[in-house]
Amino acid sequence: MTAAPVSPSVSALPQWESTPDDLPRAVREIKQAIRARIEASGRTVEEAFAVVARRVTERVAEIRTARERGEDVWPVIAYADIADGTVTREQLAKLQRRGCLVVRGHFPREQALGWDSGIVDYVEGNGFFESYRGPGDDFFGSVGSKPEIYPIYWSPAQMEARQSERMATVQSFLNSQWKHESDGITWFDPDRDSLYPDRIRRRPPGADSNGLGAHCDPGTLDLWMTEGYQQAFRHLFDGSVEEYDPWDAAHRTSGPQYPGTTMCSAFRTFQGWTALSDMAHDQGVLHTVPIPEAMAYLMLRPLLDDVAEDDMCGVTTNQVFPVSEKWHPLLLEALSGIPDVQAGDSVWWHCDMIHSVAPVQDQQGWGNVMYVPAAPWCERNERYATEVREAFVSGSSPSDFPEEHYERSWPDRFTPAQLNDTGRRGLGLI
Ligand SMILES: [Fe+2]
Repeated sequence: MTAAPVSPSVSALPQWESTPDDLPRAVREIKQAIRARIEASGRTVEEAFAVVARRVTERVAEIRTARERGEDVWPVIAYADIADGTVTREQLAKLQRRGCLVVRGHFPREQALGWDSGIVDYVEGNGFFESYRGPGDDFFGSVGSKPEIYPIYWSPAQMEARQSERMATVQSFLNSQWKHESDGITWFDPDRDSLYPDRIRRRPPGADSNGLGAHCDPGTLDLWMTEGYQQAFRHLFDGSVEEYDPWDAAHRTSGPQYPGTTMCSAFRTFQGWTALSDMAHDQGVLHTVPIPEAMAYLMLRPLLDDVAEDDMCGVTTNQVFPVSEKWHPLLLEALSGIPDVQAGDSVWWHCDMIHSVAPVQDQQGWGNVMYVPAAPWCERNERYATEVREAFVSGSSPSDFPEEHYERSWPDRFTPAQLNDTGRRGLGLI
């Protein structure tokens, strides 16, 4: 992949390719610089923000109306239609508009239930619960002290799902929703995934959980401060907000990310999980603000003058990007939960999308998921694949996650000999 051209308008912004030493000062500096750039377009920051707010307000109203009519806010597409190429134009339009999706019957229910019990055998057979040392990070750790998130990466079940043809089919369908070529550059290959290893959640019947507050995952202050993201969000930072396209991958697939507890070294078009149990919509499930353009709102909101000069509406390094009633009440009005899902269905949301997990008391049934995103092959993911390969071979926790390394001595983890061509390609072995 060739070097990306630098837009002259954005190159004028100050940049920090690693976390600034003096955060409040850097925040003040970048806010002033972005405001000046926007104003150079002949528009005030308030005017640029108003354009975004109008667009988002329309979407919020549309979602409220759909909800009042009892319609599904979340798009739902059957796996068979994706595999057969029979997804309708209306379904595609809804996916673009909402930025999230449930794939029905992505895997046969029995296969997903088999994976779930395979994971239980894998962790129990290796004494995981006896050796569990508590949450290794302070993010999912807030969910509860019992291990609901298993820091397990290399079970046969997970690897079978990651390298399956069905997963590859859905990943390339989702990747293709993005614009992946522009200015003569191929930003990523939609038909090759990079096999991003992530964890498992198993939440038992009767569980009480506070859930997770609304947040988004693509980064923190780096979204405003690194050259890559300044290029990616160039239309937000130079006043041409109408041209901002949340589906444009330009400049998103090579740059660095500031380290932090929720950092993801990979570029993901969609985050996702596959259900390993049936889950009802009111049992502490995933919610999103199903408006891809909400990112523009999040990026410009801190520039308004009711926010302190050294504050980015609460966004700071080493903490999740918060979405709050204080700064973003409009967005939170659109928060919408997934419909009921069955084991074998999968759930996907655009990588910038605001999401949360609802609280639950005395949960009915299991709440089990395997996190598998769509992370297409690109410069950034090729770089991370080197670390993934090492972690895979040694059974270690991947470098994006706490160094827990439970599986290093587990004899029945997935082996290199069990990789198929999709798995080998995903790890960069062929
Ligand atoms: Fe998240």
